[in-house]
Amino acid sequence: MEQTLAIIKPDAVERNLVGKILGRIEKAGLKIVALKMVQLSKGEAKGFYNVHREQPFFDSLTDFMSSGPIVVAVLQGERAIEHWRKIMGATDPAKADPDTLREAFGLSIEKNSVHGSDSPQSAAYEIPYFFSHLELVNP
Ligand code: CMP
Repeated sequence: MEQTLAIIKPDAVERNLVGKILGRIEKAGLKIVALKMVQLSKGEAKGFYNVHREQPFFDSLTDFMSSGPIVVAVLQGERAIEHWRKIMGATDPAKADPDTLREAFGLSIEKNSVHGSDSPQSAAYEIPYFFSHLELVNP
């Protein structure tokens, strides 16, 4: 069993898409083993996306990610990282496959509605960024 971090980004929370996105996760058979709503400070968003600190989009991305509430979740299942990335679709909604979340809800490459860990190494950084082990259940 593998775990991955999922984020429902401010653009999707603002448009009342939380239930639809969590529903898609459950329908796909991934288990939600931790869940909460938070609003990041600019500094917290920078810490989370530290790997992108040299990118030209870093300042805009961290402004956006701290602009409103987000929903963070830990998803568990067989190959959960790859499975969740498949459900999300490509980073750029314009390039996302039909029937993916970003194709359905993404507004732009930045306001792309959802985030997922891209490797076991990033999941190992991202999950404890938001959750202590006491906040994770193991069904
Ligand atoms: P995410 O999966 O959260 O990881 C990094 C984010 O940077 C990505 O989704 C995009 O929302 C955002 N981003 C903004 N501009 C770009 C870009 N040009 N290329 C890749 N990611 C970008």
